[in-house]
Amino acid sequence: MSDLSTIQLVEEVRAQFQAKFGSDPDVVVAAPGRVNLIGEHIDYCDGFVLPMAIDRYTVVAAKATEAETPGTAEFYSIDMDDTLSVPLEKIAKSEHGFWGNYVTGVLAGMADQGSEIPPLQAVTRSNVPIGGGLSSSASLEVAVSTMIEAITGTPIDPVTKGLVCQKAEHDFVGVPCGIMDQFASTLCQKDHVLLLDCQDQSFQQIPFTNPDVAVLIINSEVKHELSGGEYAQRRSSCEKALRLLESASFRDVTMDQVNAKRDSMDPVVFKRAKHVVGEIARTTDAAAALQADHWEKVGDLMYASHNSLRDDFEVSCKELDILVELASKTDGVIGSRMTGGGFGGCTVTLVERDKAASATESICSQYEQATGVKPTAFVTRPSQGAHRIA
Ligand code: GLA
Repeated sequence: MSDLSTIQLVEEVRAQFQAKFGSDPDVVVAAPGRVNLIGEHIDYCDGFVLPMAIDRYTVVAAKATEAETPGTAEFYSIDMDDTLSVPLEKIAKSEHGFWGNYVTGVLAGMADQGSEIPPLQAVTRSNVPIGGGLSSSASLEVAVSTMIEAITGTPIDPVTKGLVCQKAEHDFVGVPCGIMDQFASTLCQKDHVLLLDCQDQSFQQIPFTNPDVAVLIINSEVKHELSGGEYAQRRSSCEKALRLLESASFRDVTMDQVNAKRDSMDPVVFKRAKHVVGEIARTTDAAAALQADHWEKVGDLMYASHNSLRDDFEVSCKELDILVELASKTDGVIGSRMTGGGFGGCTVTLVERDKAASATESICSQYEQATGVKPTAFVTRPSQGAHRIA
């Protein structure tokens, strides 16, 4: 990740492309990271999520080469200072770790969709913080698929594209993620939040244009290592809960039904189910409140979501709890919660715009005093999903 603005990022990627390959790229694309306002850890439980794209992007510049087909796709990552050479005849798992597998997984998925990927050269760089819970990985996946659409001149529908990118993460990276991150990076629109129904993959764009409300992201700058295995465990506890509730989908389960099964459920499984059913209701309530400009209500639901993630789903951590607690006592703050997978990463805070700077300063300095860790923060706005720049 870098502190470059997205405009500078595009310039740098173009310049690096020229320096490395001696010509200008044919296409330049960008795909954003996302922040989720509410609806956490329920995308894999048929729930609703309410993310927006942030103004931080992964940019890919590329050019088809004259080489004989099938040839190779060569990617240079400025962030990793690493070059990946993918033989297109048989796209296999990469030995370049995560970043290599995000790229190869998407190339394989696009080829499966019928894209005729030509031999190509590409350069990529991102200003989405890596490992901060803002979907840096989904932004890379979606940027690569958007580049393939541009270079082949064959667009695929955005839902299929989101699913191709999710599959890359499942099959090539081994993370059993839900659909939120890839769909957000693909589908989000400027000045809107995305209400995504993860049961049937339908979605609604909800305007978020209130000039008096700012979205503040604070990165705790901690990442507790247990996140990978814990994520898969949460998924399997939710599946177990659903079996015990004798239901095909959490969408058909009420809180009364969860409570009625309390005594026959493992206490941990009970808590997981309670979070899921509660969070589904909170998310639809928050979407309605946002549409009605009832920001206080949105804020209350964000705090309730955080408490549930902390106490019942147990995916928060001390540092995130401190950030939310500090925010809740800060003048101008409307609501705050952890965002993304958890165990570190970022909080999302809604704050009155004219108090955003003072609130950021106050929360960050107190957090540093309490933890000894220096956080980073930025105010963002609902931004454009993946798009072609040139
Ligand atoms: C990660 C996953 C998403 C989602 C969130 C938690 O970001 O990639 O699919 O499950 O965690 O809401």
